[in-house]
This record gives sequence, structure tokens and C-alpha cells, in this order.
Amino acid sequence: MSHGIRRAAQLLSEARRVVCLTGAGASAESGVPTFRDAQTGLYANLDPMELASAQAFRRDPGFVWRWYMQRFGRLQDVIPNQGHLALAELETFVPSFLVVTQNVDDLHERAGSIDVVHLHGNIARYRCHDCRHPYELSEAEIAAEEPPNCPDCGDLIRPDVVWFGEELPPELLARARQAATDCQVMLVVGTSGSVYPAADIPYWAKTSGATVIDVNPEATPISRMADLFLRGPSGEILPEILDALELFRPGEVDDGDDDY
Ligand code: OAD
Repeated sequence: MSHGIRRAAQLLSEARRVVCLTGAGASAESGVPTFRDAQTGLYANLDPMELASAQAFRRDPGFVWRWYMQRFGRLQDVIPNQGHLALAELETFVPSFLVVTQNVDDLHERAGSIDVVHLHGNIARYRCHDCRHPYELSEAEIAAEEPPNCPDCGDLIRPDVVWFGEELPPELLARARQAATDCQVMLVVGTSGSVYPAADIPYWAKTSGATVIDVNPEATPISRMADLFLRGPSGEILPEILDALELFRPGEVDDGDDDY
């Protein structure tokens, strides 16, 4: 067991309030593409502004619609990975544990996480672009080339996700900010820290005195400011932290031998 894993487990075992900020990397081992990974990221070959923005949707609703229907369809075939499952079990060791995710999939919930804030929305939910009327898609509409129209106002139906240039739901951002300033440990998993205000959250925690732990196979601005950077895939690192927590449960004796 590495010192970093043991240290992370010790910090989490001593914390009363933990916030875990996750990004696309937390779902990568489930087979969900990330956004910016050089080879596999969704944005690698497409300009995000041509896809995830109201301007793009207005300019070519069918193109944006088909891109989201493809992503939504892919999510029907994936399952939570070992990182999601370890996170859900980690919650049981901590009195107060909040997952704040930038992801629009429901893999945290399906893994058993109880308290999940979706800062960027949920790709399984749809609504009217103008009047925000919630809308249940039919199978035919999921397969359609163009988005359906709102039964109330006639505008186009779109995914209930946050697009570039759009505001995050203020009540969710306020909850994430409050939790970040109150927590003892901020666990960051699988984000490049490229998109604000989500990328501010670890800094809010750090300036409020929390210890920041970053889990990512690559170094990012967040790993550079973190107190502890655990380099590796979350599907391996998080289960290792969970196993190491056994050392810090009341009544366990830490024999201190570091078998590497
Ligand atoms: P990115 O694609 O920008 O970053 C994914 C991060 O996950 C990278 O730092 C990878 O190194 C890391 N990663 C890859 N595989 C991993 C693994 N197995 N375990 C842990 N980490 C891994 O995705 P996000 O940071 O989530 O916004 O992007 C943030 C936002 O930008 C998204 O929510 C989306 C996008 O525009 C909206 O949709 C509004």
C-alpha cells in the first residue's frame, strides 16, 4: 500500500464532512468518453462550442440533437465502475458525504451514492429550450433526426444539461459552495479542472482550510494545488483507499509495515 493511499484513508477516516467533486474521468472506466482526453475525448474531434451551446442548437438543432441522443443511447449500455462503487461505500464511513458531479450520467446514483448534486444537469432529462417545460421522450423521438416541439409553447425540446454560456442552477452552486467551505476533506476525482465555476470548488475548500486530495492519471492545475495527488485511474485508486480505511477503523491496529 502506498503512503499516499494510506494518508488519504487516514484523512477520510478522521473527517466528519467530505465533499467529492467528480468529472468525466470518474465515468471513463465505465466506457463513457471524457471530453478532453487527447485520443478518446468527445471534444478531441469536435468543437465543443459546435455542440454544447444554445447557439449551436439554434443554428443546427438536428446536429446537436443527434449528438446528445448518441451519448444518451450509450449510457443505456454502461454500468458503474469500481470507482463509483468504492465512492458509494466510502460514504458509509463518513458522517456527512456529498458528491458534487459535473457528469450528466446517473452512474453515481446507480452505484449507490445517496447525496449527489448534478452541477451540469442530467442527460436523461429533457425540457423545453424556452419555457423549460419538462418533457418525456418517446422511443421514436430518441431515434428521430430532429428534436420534438414543446406541447406548451412550441419551442424545441433539448437536454436538461448546462451548455457553455449558460448559468448553473444557482441553488446547486450555492449548495456546492457551502459544502466546500464546510468540509474537512475535498476529494477531487477525474476532472481536468477546465470549466468554471465547477473548477473553483476545490479552491473554495482549500481556502476554507480543507485538505484537497486529487485522483487522476494525469497532472492538472488541481493536482498541482492539492495537498495529496494520487496519480492513477479512479477505478483502482478509490478501491485501494477504501481497503486502507480498514486500518483506521476503531479497534484496528496499524502495524505500520509498508508492503510496497
Ligand atoms: P475532461 O474530459 O475535461 O477531463 C477528464 C479528466 O479525467 C482528465 O483530467 C483525465 O486525465 C481524467 N481521467 C481520464 N481517465 C480517468 C480515470 N480512469 N480515472 C480518473 N480520472 C481520469 O472532463 P471534465 O473535467 O469532467 O461541461 O470536464 C468538465 C466539463 O467540461 C464537463 O462537465 C462538460 C465539459 O464541457 C458541460 O457539459 C457543461
